[in-house]
Amino acid sequence: MSGAPGELAASAWAPVLEELGARSDRVRTPTDPPTSGGAGSALAALPESADPAAAAAAILDHAARSAAPDGWLLVVVTGSPSDARLAALRDALWPEWHVSALYTPTPGGIERRSLDGSRTLRSSADARGVLVAARRREIVLAPDATVAKFDKNAAGWNGVPGRPGYGHFRWMRRFVADMAGEHRARRILDFGCGAGWVGIEAALSSRSRGGSPELAAFDPSPEMVRITEENARSAGVERCTGRTGFGEDPPFPAAGEAAFDLVLSSGVVSFARDRKRWFDGLDRGVAPGGTLVIGDIHPGSKGMMRRRREKPLLPIREMNGMRREEARAELERRGFRFQAWSGYQLSDPVPQWNHLDATRLRGLLGPVLLAWNRRAAASSLARDGADQDRFDSWVMRFVR
Ligand SMILES: C[S@@+](CC[C@H](N)C(=O)[O-])C[C@H]1O[C@@H](n2cnc3c(N)ncnc32)[C@H](O)[C@@H]1O
Repeated sequence: MSGAPGELAASAWAPVLEELGARSDRVRTPTDPPTSGGAGSALAALPESADPAAAAAAILDHAARSAAPDGWLLVVVTGSPSDARLAALRDALWPEWHVSALYTPTPGGIERRSLDGSRTLRSSADARGVLVAARRREIVLAPDATVAKFDKNAAGWNGVPGRPGYGHFRWMRRFVADMAGEHRARRILDFGCGAGWVGIEAALSSRSRGGSPELAAFDPSPEMVRITEENARSAGVERCTGRTGFGEDPPFPAAGEAAFDLVLSSGVVSFARDRKRWFDGLDRGVAPGGTLVIGDIHPGSKGMMRRRREKPLLPIREMNGMRREEARAELERRGFRFQAWSGYQLSDPVPQWNHLDATRLRGLLGPVLLAWNRRAAASSLARDGADQDRFDSWVMRFVR
């Protein structure tokens, strides 16, 4: 981690520190004495010749000693690093730190890249290399941050009927709900409901077999809960109760309330800040003899592995996601009996084609892509998920 003292001058990156709200007099490099006035952020260098995986231990050690709980870890990667090199550094800093932005000096100013897009900050004559800005995992997944993020994007997670991709989005929710099999569940819980479609589909399916379902749904985001209740009403699911809360301390079942005979959790565990508590919360929701359906992204799929190699910036859920085998082990440890698994969202290149279709072709290819994906998912289910790596997502059914 030695070398590159020029790049390691906090003043060289003043426009970035300003943008991050990090005080330059509280930034510590590995050779600095402790800052007076308390900890702030940690600044380190990754020289051009160093292997990110090998250098990470020293960087992480410096960050653990120097950065405040809500401080930044700033790593100056010297030279002109490729995206693949930056991606390798991101992997080496995880799971303690999550890379959220990259800053590259250009003739017009310092270019800031994040998942929200790029913009240019004022220039600094002394900045060289690429500055990688990372935040502690706990900060990125903090309850307030999660609520703010999903409140802001709630409409996006609901989708717009008739828009390209909407049919695909709704089909995926139905596929997860159908994983419950032929049931007439009376008490259904949607655990991290988003816009509520998985729980709603399960309730409609129960009713179609003569069941008389009550749907309970919760999400950290009040806006998501509001949308779920609205969607349930408009889909004809009259008995729907929404609450706000996290899987780590779920609001259903509250003290004195019964557990559920069907619990579904779709696309949620990859956002869990505390996995053990999240699974304990899920466990409490399922009544003896009840069914649990759980699905999420598959970090080992062909497409996700490629993204991980090539893209230096990834959403935290792609870093935090778990393989189905790990999720299965968590549940079996808690007494659940595994019944079936399947893949459902096809991986590389289907998501790219869906994107192209939505952005350039006004959804023209949508029905073909959806038919392809449906057939592949049905065949995965029939083959008991033997082809999981072809899919970006997994889903499983358990009983307890
Ligand atoms: C990808 S969306 C999936 C929503 C819905 N289940 C679906 O399949 O469409 C993830 C949802 O999980 C919620 N979430 C994030 N962290 C959570 C946690 N720790 N416990 C429960 N829900 C959480 C988010 O607010 C968001 O609505």
